[in-house]
Amino acid sequence: MKQIKVCGGNILSGTIKISGAKNSAVALIPASILADDIVKIDNIPAISDIDALDEILKYLGAKVEFKDGIMTIDPRSIKNKMIPKEVSSKLRASYYFMSALLGKYKYVEMYFPGGCKIGARPIDQTLKGFKELGATVVEKDNKFVISAEELKGGHVYLDMPSVGATINTMLVASRAKGLTIIENAAKEPEIVNVATFLNNMGARITGAGTSEIRIKGVESLKGCFTEVIPDRIETGTYVIAGALLGDNLKIENIIPEHIESLTLKLREMGVKMTIGKDNIVINKCDKLKPVNLKTLGYPGFPTDLQQPITTLLTQCNGLSQIEETIYENRFQNVPYLNKMGANIKISGKKLKIKGPTKLKGAKVTATDLRAGACLILAALIAKGTTTIKDIEHVLRGYENIIEKLTDVGAKISLEEI
Ligand code: EPU
Repeated sequence: MKQIKVCGGNILSGTIKISGAKNSAVALIPASILADDIVKIDNIPAISDIDALDEILKYLGAKVEFKDGIMTIDPRSIKNKMIPKEVSSKLRASYYFMSALLGKYKYVEMYFPGGCKIGARPIDQTLKGFKELGATVVEKDNKFVISAEELKGGHVYLDMPSVGATINTMLVASRAKGLTIIENAAKEPEIVNVATFLNNMGARITGAGTSEIRIKGVESLKGCFTEVIPDRIETGTYVIAGALLGDNLKIENIIPEHIESLTLKLREMGVKMTIGKDNIVINKCDKLKPVNLKTLGYPGFPTDLQQPITTLLTQCNGLSQIEETIYENRFQNVPYLNKMGANIKISGKKLKIKGPTKLKGAKVTATDLRAGACLILAALIAKGTTTIKDIEHVLRGYENIIEKLTDVGAKISLEEI
């Protein structure tokens, strides 16, 4: 078990370089097995979710090399086997293997995927997409057996713009016969990254990044080279750190457009930033105005930044409100923030945050990935020392977080307990 210890109150200055996007990389890696030749993916973050996917690839028989951020995957020796439950339950993204194996072999057996415990997270829309493309789904005790005589294009209307269902449907449709149309598709930049990758492999996808995606199925997909986009959630987390403690803190290797919903909110709060082509320079602001925000699919405010920004809202002068519309259990960070001195009330899907409140060090727990990020931000501004348990959740999604924060002046360390 690991924990993080943070001694709060230090100004952050210097440069933080953003890594490749977790939520893109975790889809690109399973998608690679659709190719009939070697695939190279650059800018893969060294995080434990990637280790889990590496383990799955090797279990299936792929040859994998991961060096200097480049993952080289040779899928030619893959065998279609059921991924053991204890491995697929390590992360949500294991279900991208469901669609990749189904697309390639027209048959897959897999258990329900894992992921942060932030709500129900059903996969009904993914299964609806599979069925629309001609597959039969049999479920027993959380195990799915999915098969198709023939995969053929179809018209998939998603009940909500689900990131997972959009990607899973694109993966299967790339190898199905004829045209598939996904309506009410998710528009996240990670979806565009996956579609570009599939097109580099020879797929014929248009409309990714809009709510209607069209996929013309092809007979085979070839090897290719691609690059993971910068992680917009990691970017947002460090930008928030800059608004709390920055002295010309530079966040670089970013796509500013991907975090506009955050930077526009920060401007509303009075935060001073200079936004460059691929970087943001940000300074601590002492007189923050309160704001209201609601989480939505892209380009709305991302649910994955809802917990990190809660820490910043504890420092605003007045009452801020958050409405979480994507997950029903993404407030597990709140009792710990209150333990550190925040004044936050939970009322159904909403938070009322009264600020400013001085935070003090405490013993807290990272219940999930972004709750952990929120608590690290809180610990960075708190008086005294904070210890954060169950930090494994954070290491699943933030590459070298200790080193990146230490390099810009934070007093933060990782301890084995
Ligand atoms: N939903 C359904 N049925 C479905 C799919 C989704 O009801 O079949 C509902 C669920 O309530 C779910 C919500 O829609 O809670 C959002 O689901 P979506 O499919 O969009 O999310 P996901 O693919 O499971 C990805 C990211 C999440 C991120 C969401 C939303 C990965 C591996 N995970 O999850 O990332 O919050 O999109 O942007 O890409 C994180 O990084 O901390 C994280 C949780």
